Amino acid sequence: MAGEFKTVGVVGVGTMGAGIVEVMARNGLDVIGVEVDETALERGRAHLKHSTDRAVKRGKMTPQEQEELFRRITFTTRLEDLAEVDLVVEAVPERLDLKREVFAELDKICKPDAILATNTSSLSITEISVATSRPSRVIGMHFFNPAPVMKLVEVVRTVVTDPEVVASVEALAQRLGKTDVTIGDRAGFIVNFLLFGYLNHAVTMYESRYATREDIDAAMKLGCGLPMGPLQLLDLIGIDTAYEIIETMYRQSRDHRHAPAPYLKQMVTAGLLGRKSGRGFYTYEAPDSPVVVPDAQTPATTREFPNARPVAKAGVVGSGTMATGIIEVFAKGGYDVVYVARSEEKVAKVRERIEQSTQKAVLRGKLTEADRDAALGRLRGTTKLDDLADVDLVVEAVVEELSVKKALFSTFDEICKPGTVLATTTSSLPVIECAMASNRPADVVGMHFFNPAPVMRLVEVVRTIHTGDQVVDTANAVCAQLGKHAVNCGDRAGFIVNALLFPYLNDAVRMLEANYATADDIDAAMKLGCGYPMGPFELLDVVGLDVALAIQQTLFREFREPGFAPAPLLENLVTAGYLGRKARRGFRDYTH
Ligand SMILES: NC(=O)c1ccc[n+]([C@@H]2O[C@H](COP(=O)([O-])OP(=O)(O)OC[C@H]3O[C@@H](n4cnc5c(N)ncnc54)[C@H](O)[C@@H]3O)[C@@H](O)[C@H]2O)c1
Repeated sequence: MAGEFKTVGVVGVGTMGAGIVEVMARNGLDVIGVEVDETALERGRAHLKHSTDRAVKRGKMTPQEQEELFRRITFTTRLEDLAEVDLVVEAVPERLDLKREVFAELDKICKPDAILATNTSSLSITEISVATSRPSRVIGMHFFNPAPVMKLVEVVRTVVTDPEVVASVEALAQRLGKTDVTIGDRAGFIVNFLLFGYLNHAVTMYESRYATREDIDAAMKLGCGLPMGPLQLLDLIGIDTAYEIIETMYRQSRDHRHAPAPYLKQMVTAGLLGRKSGRGFYTYEAPDSPVVVPDAQTPATTREFPNARPVAKAGVVGSGTMATGIIEVFAKGGYDVVYVARSEEKVAKVRERIEQSTQKAVLRGKLTEADRDAALGRLRGTTKLDDLADVDLVVEAVVEELSVKKALFSTFDEICKPGTVLATTTSSLPVIECAMASNRPADVVGMHFFNPAPVMRLVEVVRTIHTGDQVVDTANAVCAQLGKHAVNCGDRAGFIVNALLFPYLNDAVRMLEANYATADDIDAAMKLGCGYPMGPFELLDVVGLDVALAIQQTLFREFREPGFAPAPLLENLVTAGYLGRKARRGFRDYTH
């Protein structure tokens, strides 16, 4: 059936439309692109030229192929030129009235058996379909940005879409080399529903000056392996489009996490639409350019920390996974390290694990033998906290229990010399609680490393109400020396990464619970639609469902945000002992 698609119309040759034209033409279809006027058409053509020039330059397309591709494309400003096409994909701005108008006209113009598809990201396809006399031939075909690159297409059927139309569009998606997931008509479908709550939350963080745009973006890229940070992604999507999507989601969900952050509205009004207008959260070389140029908010490239206290010797308390990784990082970073474990066996075990890990690094050519020997030579294990008397910085990485951490911080008072920076690597407890347990709260800071510490480049440096500037500078300077990327934020539950990540994971669980889509489809959609390294259920099984639940509960307790309440399904799985990979059963079964 899809073989019957020969000519396709694309209405609106903007950010998405241009990409869709390219995808269709690359796969041998004749395409007619329609725009409102010559200027817009010229812009669409330029977009396409730019994108295919890049493909030629990278050797992914020959100049002849590029020429043939352009021969298959007709540009026009007349919707009437779509009279003979088999399929239309509409990609005009995200406004219901506009889309309904376009569909009503298309209905009059196109032949009766033509399929009318919309690329809407969030609007009701059912509402669009009833503007035509053929609702059964109306469907959602939701591509992702940039359309030639992203592998996912969400095929959205309404209650009246003809199954044969669904099958044709699924087959076409495959012919275009895409992976399709077919779902029902609900605001945001799979990907945007899960994505935009998170993006909006990131804007709120930025708006409240909780962290800088660079730090929010770097945190999500380095902490979660995402291809782009949330604010960079919003600039790519287009702030106006994003605003409309979030607004539509709010109308359906009434979840105030989907109420567009006021800052977004201001940006739209001010014409800061992201890359397409040359300025959004960041400033770009020119409209439509991906090249970010420095502006007033850009931090200095060489960050210096003149107020940092000198650190030559570091102490680490703990012997678990995080502590062991952090000890290794400090030793490799050139610091003398004293680490404190609770027994001689644990002291020996830590050393053994670091020997193995550094040996692996040597075998992989990531560390020279001399550097390994030097790092191991800088390590000293002990069972006595008193041995921390002369360290310049101590990092606590013991069990995630407040009473234990507080007891430790009050002990540091008696042991550590004045001026020692006292850091906790807690991922969910308030740093200020640790600070207030000591009688030198200005010296206490959070240094949240990620697992595995020797591999993950991110460290969240957390400042409490009491933390001194010198202490924050010291933590940042030490991270730089360790080759880590420090981001700075305030002392709120989840810091940057977990506060943005876990509600998204929880939302995915709720989506599964509502039987909107399967875990496999949700995982595939997030990986292929957003380029995430893992889908939410894969990630939850790796993190551990108990850990995820605990973090989600902490976030809920701190922010009292109804949308942060843990999904009942997550609670049930934890109660049932389905904790993820470590229990060989979580969202998936790993027993075979
Ligand atoms: N930007 C994204 O990341 C993304 C991703 C997937 C889907 N979408 C959806 O794609 C659609 C288009 O979004 P966009 O980001 O490409 O917007 P855009 O503003 O970049 O492009 C829209 C284009 O439509 C043209 N247009 C307006 N009215 C028209 C009409 N009556 N006839 C023909 N052309 C008309 C405009 O001139 C403009 O060039 C929206 O529904 C959006 O939700 C966007």
